[in-house]
Amino acid sequence: MSFHRKIFYTLALTILGISTVFILLTHFTVKGTIEAGLEQTRSQEIHLINKRLTTYYVENNNSWKNIEQIDLLQDITQDHPELVVKDNREQVIYDKGSSPLKLVENLGIKRDITISNSKVGEFIYYDPEMANFTKIMIGIPISVIIILLITSTILIIISLFIAYRLSKWLASPLQELLPFIKRLGKGEFGIRVPVNTKDEYGKIAKAFNHMSKELEKAEIVRKNLTADVAHELRTPLTIINGKLDYLQQQGQMIRPEVLLPIQDELIRLNQIVEDLRVLSLAEAGKLKLNKTPTNMVDLSCRLISSLEPLAEEKNISMTLDVQTNETTVFVDENRMKQVFLNLLTNAIRYTPNQGKIYIRLFKEKNALKIIVEDTGKGIEPEYLPYLFERFYRTDEARTRYSGGTGLGLAIAKQYVVSHNGKIEVKSKVNHGTSFIVYLPYHNEAN
Ligand SMILES: Nc1ncnc2c1ncn2[C@@H]1O[C@H](COP(=O)(O)OP(=O)(O)OP(=O)(O)O)[C@@H](O)[C@H]1O
Ligand SMILES: [Mg+2]
Repeated sequence: MSFHRKIFYTLALTILGISTVFILLTHFTVKGTIEAGLEQTRSQEIHLINKRLTTYYVENNNSWKNIEQIDLLQDITQDHPELVVKDNREQVIYDKGSSPLKLVENLGIKRDITISNSKVGEFIYYDPEMANFTKIMIGIPISVIIILLITSTILIIISLFIAYRLSKWLASPLQELLPFIKRLGKGEFGIRVPVNTKDEYGKIAKAFNHMSKELEKAEIVRKNLTADVAHELRTPLTIINGKLDYLQQQGQMIRPEVLLPIQDELIRLNQIVEDLRVLSLAEAGKLKLNKTPTNMVDLSCRLISSLEPLAEEKNISMTLDVQTNETTVFVDENRMKQVFLNLLTNAIRYTPNQGKIYIRLFKEKNALKIIVEDTGKGIEPEYLPYLFERFYRTDEARTRYSGGTGLGLAIAKQYVVSHNGKIEVKSKVNHGTSFIVYLPYHNEAN
């Protein structure tokens, strides 16, 4: 069933339900009020007759015997009063009046005769004036019902029409969205739907546009990946090839030091292949993690001392700033070492001489927050969204030998995500860059 039909039927049933309850309630309220009013007009007579009957019954040793000989209507001031009395087996034991019994029963006022809470009979009082009154009174609820039925029918028709239009109107934005979803499904990534409202539909349209943009990005990355891999592998291969050709042409004995650059390229080639393997394992969630309680302060100290010579070359200072006592997390130490090694080598690489690097540790909610901050050249805002993509390097870093392969941050991100953490980057051009890593304390699973 379509969405708009569902809304329509729900509204229609609600309207019908409310109308029925309203009609029934009005009917019973009007009827109850009228009956109470009617009894009120003959309350004196009813009271008198009831008293006479109960007195007679008690004085006659709890029996109705010879009741017909009593004038129960004595002193009743109404014109032509009539009375019917029945015992507790519904047998008529007293009938004073000329009107047919059925008429008296239908239009008269009925009362139970009770003594000590038990019913010993019942009586029906009737007089013509009251009967007329009753007829009018019975007529009122019927007319009320008829009026209510007519007005309700009109109202129901109007409401159903409104419900129909409303349901169509409510469902129309979804109808508009449907062709866009189909087009996206067919591979038209990056397609946008117009966001016309700020309500839930507007939010859905926005979410759709975001998803479409992300899919487009993923598609571009996927398409570029093969080209990037080929490109990255080709460069060392070309160099190796060129060098070997040259050596062949020389036709001389190959000295070991001549082989060194070739070996360097092979190492680099090997590293790229290994990085890609680990990356795809991590992305598929198949990375084996050997988690142990790891003190991140100790790890940072070890990394700082191993990178000290590199930093000293550029006169860069490295400072550890610990703002929490809870510095131990349950992680794969080697993988974490690789994450922070890359962040720190990046920081050293992209920070000019005399710069400063800080590793700051904080506790934030349930995670250890580790910031690697530098006073380097910073990153242009337009590069930031792509920084963690494979092979991504900012323009200045593209010259292969000044930068790396562009896999470091992609691997770092996957490692952090595999530990249920997250990594973010903040950067200000000419001021510096901060990479922020969150590692949850409760990370025992996996
Ligand atoms: N601290 C930083 N300051 C400025 N730019 C940075 C910084 N860290 C990373 N970048 C930019 O992000 C790019 C990607 O970094 P990533 O670590 O992924 O690759 P890489 O360092 O170039 O190569 P790899 O780490 O694989 O050897 C870098 O090429 C550089 O342009
Ligand atoms: Mg790097």
